[in-house]
Amino acid sequence: MRILAVSGSLRADSHNTSLLRAAIDEAPEGVEVELWEGIGELPVYDQDLDDDDPPEAVRRLREAWGSADAILFATPEYNGSVPGGLKNAIDWASRPRLEAALVNKNVAVIGSSTGQFGAMWAQADLKRILGLTGARVVGEELPVMRAHEKFDAEGRLLDGKLAERLRLVLDTLAAETAAVELAA
Ligand SMILES: Cc1cc2nc3c(=O)[nH]c(=O)nc-3n(C[C@H](O)[C@H](O)[C@H](O)COP(=O)(O)O)c2cc1C
Repeated sequence: MRILAVSGSLRADSHNTSLLRAAIDEAPEGVEVELWEGIGELPVYDQDLDDDDPPEAVRRLREAWGSADAILFATPEYNGSVPGGLKNAIDWASRPRLEAALVNKNVAVIGSSTGQFGAMWAQADLKRILGLTGARVVGEELPVMRAHEKFDAEGRLLDGKLAERLRLVLDTLAAETAAVELAA
């Protein structure tokens, strides 16, 4: 099973991307977690561009998200919600409506911020947005607060309890995805 890991932050030293790198290490047996980093290449969503010949970056997004068994999103919180770049990628991946990459896709949401609340509002908004696209949102949020204290200089997780909760998110996402694939 292949889970795509999508960070809502483009920053080189992003805590959210570090969280996804930790997810690669914590993946259950038989599950490959793969980081996808195409958000910064996407044009701003424009329905006039969304025709039979969409931009190349959009094609790559739809192919990558569409072919993954599941997607794990890690989002920062910008001004109380989801970063614009991530929302833009989701808008592109939500069309064409009935054959969109996100329709019936198993997805889970985690997130971190340097503040006290661990991007909780952004995670709640992201789950709502993904639900509206027709994705199957699985499991609970994982708010990682004071993110600057949770990783070492190489971006590795310092907190064993957090690693355990991350494993639980991955286990739940993998189990739900396997169950849906079995029933199909
Ligand atoms: C434009 C902007 C808005 C932000 N707004 C919030 C916010 O509403 N809540 C919060 O907890 N942190 C906020 N932050 C702080 C981010 O959570 C923090 O920079 C975090 O490390 C970003 O994630 P990253 O490390 O994955 O890039 C904001 C940061 C930026 C740049």
